[in-house]
Amino acid sequence: MKAPDIRIAPSLLSADFARLGEEVRAIEAAGADMVHFDVMDNHYVPNLTIGPLVCEAIRPHVTVPIDVHLMVEPVDALIPLFARAGAEFITFHQEANRHVDRTLSLIREHGCKPGLALNPATPLSVLEHVLDKVDMVLLMSVNPGFGGQKFIPATLAKIEALRARLDAHQNDDGHAIWLQIDGGVNADNIGAIRRAGADTFVAGSAVFGAPDADRGYRTIMRRLREHAQNR
Ligand code: DX5
Ligand code: ZN
Repeated sequence: MKAPDIRIAPSLLSADFARLGEEVRAIEAAGADMVHFDVMDNHYVPNLTIGPLVCEAIRPHVTVPIDVHLMVEPVDALIPLFARAGAEFITFHQEANRHVDRTLSLIREHGCKPGLALNPATPLSVLEHVLDKVDMVLLMSVNPGFGGQKFIPATLAKIEALRARLDAHQNDDGHAIWLQIDGGVNADNIGAIRRAGADTFVAGSAVFGAPDADRGYRTIMRRLREHAQNR
């Protein structure tokens, strides 16, 4: 198996929304590689969060990429808005979109990196005709809609299967595709998730709910990285 770099993307969903600017500065200073930005619409998922205005507001506070995870239906109208708001990655759910190929192109046309998210029950076969167009595949390891849920163990076998598929694809055309895991990631399971083949880790409650939260998240970020690297 290849050993791509590890990236940790704290999810703002568990941050203090009254202090978002400070929160994103703190996680970047603590070593975050990306800021994971969860967008929920109370339609595709039963929860409602933040949109392009908030993305635009936090953009000047960090230098790392903003990784927008759209849990919305429909998707397309939000793409230009998030591109303008400073998103680097825009990921949407395969199940929330009738024209996946078109939406992936639209994201790239707007200067962003396209990601495709698969729910726990969505088979990897949906990737078959779109791998050339994605820069990241997001496997959900919980059902989308809420932070603080428990990691679904069957995801590990799915990660292994996807890793094999991505390695074969990358060998064909040299196009690196990141494998992101989202949901229930913590210091106890990140080693196993890494061993299975993930390279990009979203962590919400594990970071923002950590005991060192008031000291700037450095301890938890270091722990996550060490546990991921020690495999
Ligand atoms: C869930 C979101 C996740 C969530 C992860 O629908 O997509 O990004 O914030 O939170 P934790 O790490 O607490 O599971
Ligand atoms: Zn997410």
